[in-house]
Amino acid sequence: MELLTDALYWIGAVTVAWLSVSTLCRLLSGIRVWIVGNGNLMRATKLGKWAVVTGATDGIGKAYAEELARQGFAIVLISRTQEKLDEVSKAIESKYNVETKTISADFGSVDIYPKIESGLAGLEIGVLVNNVGVSYSYPEFFLDIPGIDSFINSMININITSVCQMTRLVLPRMVERSKGVILNVASASGMYPVPLLTLYSSSKTFVDFFSRGLEAEYKSKGIIIQSVLPFYVTTKLSKIRRATLDIPSPERYVKAQLSTVGLQTQSNGYFPHAVMGWVTTALLPAKLLNKYVMSMGLSQRARYLKKQKQG
Ligand SMILES: NC(=O)c1ccc[n+]([C@@H]2O[C@H](COP(=O)([O-])OP(=O)(O)OC[C@H]3O[C@@H](n4cnc5c(N)ncnc54)[C@H](OP(=O)(O)O)[C@@H]3O)[C@@H](O)[C@H]2O)c1
Repeated sequence: MELLTDALYWIGAVTVAWLSVSTLCRLLSGIRVWIVGNGNLMRATKLGKWAVVTGATDGIGKAYAEELARQGFAIVLISRTQEKLDEVSKAIESKYNVETKTISADFGSVDIYPKIESGLAGLEIGVLVNNVGVSYSYPEFFLDIPGIDSFINSMININITSVCQMTRLVLPRMVERSKGVILNVASASGMYPVPLLTLYSSSKTFVDFFSRGLEAEYKSKGIIIQSVLPFYVTTKLSKIRRATLDIPSPERYVKAQLSTVGLQTQSNGYFPHAVMGWVTTALLPAKLLNKYVMSMGLSQRARYLKKQKQG
């Protein structure tokens, strides 16, 4: 009996010590990431002259282009619409006094990469932000997605192929110089299945796994590769206009995100989003989360279809 009491005492003591140490480690790493930040890491003088941003004319991509220009990078803006590219590039040049270059390309196609490759030739690229991405117009059952055949191709080309191909074009020179940062914008919806946005959610899981695998391959060669997993941000894609604490503007999100680079391989990028990520993946049982996300999707879908009916 005494032996059993002793054993229980030691099991309890070791458990409490382990929990205390792991809580302390979490706290210290939280302070490092969310309060201290990465200092001067994201500077052109440290990484290389140019930053390349895909999907750079709106939302999160535009905010990356502006913030990186503010840090002294010359910016290559890549998006679909030339007029929007010209407008953003002019604004960046006059506000931040840096060089810019534009490349118009539709990431829905797969024949654009020779054009992008020649546009990037000879540039010393310090940062690549693989940001371009599209989602559903509304949550829908897979088989009922309007124009499903072309929707599948276009979502895979934009959300997945672009990340792999842009990395293929930019990474070799980074490896030669033993420095560079690649930020791959995935989504919190890649952290768990999101029914009714299944293809989007799965495409973002690909981006997350691709980034984390690649980080392990190229870390020792001096390259930082980060998987970025935002929850909602106020952009055209999310269709949310009003910023709140948990739904930041793209500018607020990107500022916070950039100070996590080099400190987290996989990051929600913004403290309230990190808390939401922890609650959804560590605290909620997966089955319950799946049911909850499905019911949210169903009610969003019903609201959208009702609005469409009313004209
Ligand atoms: N907003 C959110 O709540 C949220 C949450 C999680 C993850 N994300 C991810 O964050 C990334 C950026 O999203 P966002 O909300 O900032 O989107 P957004 O506001 O809709 O902006 C999309 C940008 O991508 C460009 N683009 C769209 N389709 C393109 C195509 N086929 N070829 C070339 N460029 C194209 C657009 O330029 P043009 O108009 O010129 O085509 C625009 O510059 C995406 O990967 C998204 O999945 C967003």
